[in-house]
Amino acid sequence: MTKTMKAWKHDEYGGVDTLKLVTDAAVPEITDDQVLVRVVAAALNPVDFKRRLGYFKATDSPLPIIPGYDVAGVVVKIGSQVKGLKEGDEVYGDVNEKALEGPKQFGTLAEYIAVEERLLALKPKNLDFVQAAALPLAIETAYEGLERAGFCEGKSILVLNGAGGVGSLVIQLAKHVFGASKIAATSSTGKLELLKSLGVDLAIDYTKENFEELPDKYDVVYDAVGQVEKAVKVVNGSGCVVSITAAIPSQGFSFVLTSNGSVLTKLNPYLESGKVKPVLDPKTPFPFDKVNEAFTYLESNRVTGKLVIYPIP
Ligand SMILES: NC(=O)c1ccc[n+]([C@@H]2O[C@H](COP(=O)([O-])OP(=O)(O)OC[C@H]3O[C@@H](n4cnc5c(N)ncnc54)[C@H](OP(=O)(O)O)[C@@H]3O)[C@@H](O)[C@H]2O)c1
Ligand SMILES: *[C@@H]1O[C@H](CO)[C@@H](O)[C@H](O)[C@H]1NC(C)=O
Ligand SMILES: *[C@@H]1O[C@H](CO)[C@@H](O)[C@H](O)[C@H]1NC(C)=O
Repeated sequence: MTKTMKAWKHDEYGGVDTLKLVTDAAVPEITDDQVLVRVVAAALNPVDFKRRLGYFKATDSPLPIIPGYDVAGVVVKIGSQVKGLKEGDEVYGDVNEKALEGPKQFGTLAEYIAVEERLLALKPKNLDFVQAAALPLAIETAYEGLERAGFCEGKSILVLNGAGGVGSLVIQLAKHVFGASKIAATSSTGKLELLKSLGVDLAIDYTKENFEELPDKYDVVYDAVGQVEKAVKVVNGSGCVVSITAAIPSQGFSFVLTSNGSVLTKLNPYLESGKVKPVLDPKTPFPFDKVNEAFTYLESNRVTGKLVIYPIP
């Protein structure tokens, strides 16, 4: 195998223009508990650009950095302690166990990635690599938040930012995995139909209505945009607000996800049955040489569902 690979890299913190496409990045070495994955598709997440802007500088790995958390690809090499995966397996996952604490210096926007077996799962058979790459970070965040909130059958939920990467999966998991009794969600006008197609009972157009002024109250408000002050006003008595942005709600909690391949394995039946589906932005996929354009679009905060980079390279 060749020892160098194509990758997107930045040597300093800053805007999209700090990202450079290089052809001489080192193919990562694997440790005993890791596998080497040939990246077939990689998805972008807001954490990638927040990291590049230096928001997590204090706990980041050293520069230069190859960004990228989400991957779908093929195992090409296994470490000596790897038990459950073999060469040729089609896998997917979020390669950073703790999103903000020491994320990998060399991420998934490259031809190869070294990743711990425990962070990966076998790709659902019905999904292609682009669809699979769109899932890990977002679906694991959606699941962890619902689970920590004690969400369960018969409960109601309001999802703030239902059309984004995380929110589109919170809606589907709440409905198909947890058995929600009622689901409401917010988006702008053009995305209301998408919300309904995902299973939302009440789609609220945030450009026309203030959700906190409507009469309905919810057991859980899953805030995927950063509106906790308003969110606490629509939680019913014993309920809570789940925040995945920085603010800690007075009635609820915020958290940063822990990547875990077992969560993907657990959700596999819902994915393979087609009940829960990745939502891809109409502009997906972006080819590898347009990663910078994909970031510019992501940073506009208008993306629907996920942006995936494919093919690689
Ligand atoms: N704590 C964690 O572990 C964790 C994990 C994942 C993500 N996050 C964070 O959670 C946030 C959401 O992530 P994401 O990947 O879902 O984001 P995203 O997909 O990039 O979100 C984009 C969407 O936000 C919608 N939006 C913008 N303003 C809105 C508003 N006022 N009300 C409702 N929707 C609005 C946009 O829809 P319109 O065009 O309709 O406005 C767009 O579809 C980000 O800040 C991300 O960093 C945290
Ligand atoms: C909260 O909402 C649930 C149903 O969504 C309802 O059963 C419960 O009584 C409500 N609790 C309060 C205090 O309003
Ligand atoms: C990973 O997820 C599985 C399934 O939900 C859970 O049993 C396990 O405790 C999790 N591991 C970690 C390290 O969080």
